[in-house]
Amino acid sequence: MKTVLSGIRSTGHLHLGNYFGALKNFTQLQHKANCFFFIADLHSLTTHPKPEDNRKNIKIILSEYLASGLDPEQSVLYVQSSVPEISELYALLNMLAYKGELERTASFKDKVRKHPENVNAGLLTYPVLMSADILIHRAQWVPVGKDQEQHLEIARVLARRFNNMYKRPVFPEPQAYNFGEDLVKIPGLDGTGKMGKSEGNGIYLIDDEKTIRKKVMRAVTDSGPTEPNSPMSPGTANLFDLLSVVSKPDVVSFFKEQYDNCTIRYGDLKKQLAEDIARHTLPIKARIEEIYNNEPYLKQVVEQGAEKARQSARATMKEVRDAMGINVF
Ligand code: TRP
Repeated sequence: MKTVLSGIRSTGHLHLGNYFGALKNFTQLQHKANCFFFIADLHSLTTHPKPEDNRKNIKIILSEYLASGLDPEQSVLYVQSSVPEISELYALLNMLAYKGELERTASFKDKVRKHPENVNAGLLTYPVLMSADILIHRAQWVPVGKDQEQHLEIARVLARRFNNMYKRPVFPEPQAYNFGEDLVKIPGLDGTGKMGKSEGNGIYLIDDEKTIRKKVMRAVTDSGPTEPNSPMSPGTANLFDLLSVVSKPDVVSFFKEQYDNCTIRYGDLKKQLAEDIARHTLPIKARIEEIYNNEPYLKQVVEQGAEKARQSARATMKEVRDAMGINVF
């Protein structure tokens, strides 16, 4: 069985795009592969967030992923900082990572440009920490977006370099895992591209019914079709895409027909869309709140995850230390 691993940024709430996109695929992968999912809380420290925000964000993310269907019995679900072997491997891989190649990383150059006042070593070696995350479990598949592909390439370079330098095939080279056709793209509500955190065009799993309705009613459309079968504006097309994800097929064709014969009232479509989104998300919202308030349960999940992750990590570290000649006694 293949080993799949994915790191989860530890800031921000989950939106519909996350839920119907990668997360749906993760919950299915759990049954087909050896899955490791973790909250990348160390990575988020590069920007020096407040400790109380860290504590809260980790609890939020964990609750939202659990409520969305990640199963701690099926996959290894853990917090990065509770597996010290990752930090150890990070320190060792740093010896193999060259300043020049790290400085050439697009994400690093971007950070330097945007935050010249905080160019710390953690930022420079962000891809090394990410490599340690992946290599510590000798993962073969890593589902990543376009923005992380360069980091994954660094993980491959470090794996290869380690194996060559110490003449032992300790690490497999991790590959990008592409969900392909299975990855549903969820558009935002502003008539532009996909739903995203920074775009402010999203509906979150924790939004209440009123908020969902308000956001959907404000979504960008147009003044309506004036002749039969006219092409859709991006905003209207986005609403139909969303509808096809959350509503029954006959509901979608009902509004499509109305669009095609120019009798559609976007207000009606939006009301239906908001209702169908809420039907999906409100039960998840309730679960999120229940899990978030169940501290003993969260603690148990995190402890069990750390235990399983450390077992795998210790086995790798033994080989790494052997290969490097740093556990003589
Ligand atoms: N850097 C990733 C992001 O910003 C998160 C991440 C950290 C990650 N470690 C990882 C993803 C390891 C995949 C594998 O989204």
